[in-house]
Amino acid sequence: MSDVTGRTRIMFILADPVQHVRGSAFLNAHFRAHAIDAVCAPLHVAPADLETAVAAIRHTQNLSGFGCTIPHKVAIVPLLDRVTDRARTIGAVNFVKRMPDGTLVGDNLDAAGFIGALHAKGLSARGKRVLQIGAGGAGRATAFALSQDGARRIIIHNRDIRKAEQLAMDLRAANPDVDAQAGLGAAEDFDLVVNATSLGLKPEDALPVDVSRVGKGIVVYDIIANPPVTKLLAEAGRRGATTIGGGAMLDEQMSLVTEFVFGEQGNAC
Ligand SMILES: NC(=O)c1ccc[n+]([C@@H]2O[C@H](COP(=O)([O-])OP(=O)(O)OC[C@H]3O[C@@H](n4cnc5c(N)ncnc54)[C@H](OP(=O)(O)O)[C@@H]3O)[C@@H](O)[C@H]2O)c1
Repeated sequence: MSDVTGRTRIMFILADPVQHVRGSAFLNAHFRAHAIDAVCAPLHVAPADLETAVAAIRHTQNLSGFGCTIPHKVAIVPLLDRVTDRARTIGAVNFVKRMPDGTLVGDNLDAAGFIGALHAKGLSARGKRVLQIGAGGAGRATAFALSQDGARRIIIHNRDIRKAEQLAMDLRAANPDVDAQAGLGAAEDFDLVVNATSLGLKPEDALPVDVSRVGKGIVVYDIIANPPVTKLLAEAGRRGATTIGGGAMLDEQMSLVTEFVFGEQGNAC
């Protein structure tokens, strides 16, 4: 990394916990590769302190913006001055741009990153039956992305079933052509299985869904980026399924983040 100076644009990723955060390392690698004078660090902010942290960011002039991940993506929305249309539709923000006057504008780049990584593998959701586990901030983004990409059926399972029901309802309202329902089915009955929960971040976590009967022809996409190969992906891959990890989704987002926070050239100076 080049020297961090008073001219360097600063970014943070707000999270709780922070140990698993990989977005900052991805961003720093992107900045280095494109000679952008900027740096990003994870910032451990508990939910109760989010409002205070955001207020401090407003008053910090060399702070260009910040990302937010678990558990802040939905809670951040009312603390911002503006959000983009797509972030409003999804109901969650994962990157925030700080304007020179301290105004904070939120966007959601998860959806574009998620679907971009699917397309980069030569795959798409068009006409597919999808089982998605998780309906948190990232899960809302991935479900809307799947719907916009043409998924035929989206079944959403979540520990808190009300969030899954709400998401299914929001998906149907945004796109009446999609058959979106809260529920659970057997992974092997779907074309695409998505883990959008945080289950898999820790080695002791249970599998978010049983993939013991999946095989060739089924795609299992785990958006967790760290570890790069979760237990879910290892198990599904062993059984012949095509697997995609969260690193690909993060990768896709890097130029989008740079463009959003620093402007089209990604020029931080
Ligand atoms: N690769 C990428 O670019 C990328 C981008 C964004 C997020 N992610 C990953 O996506 C995951 C979710 O992030 P998020 O921002 O959506 O977080 P979030 O808003 O806090 O949502 C967490 C989700 O995980 C579920 N969950 C948490 N603990 C659980 C448990 N013990 N049992 C069952 N379900 C559990 C939650 O269910 P409840 O609603 O019932 O609590 C919710 O669906 C994280 O692992 C994050 O690292 C990756």
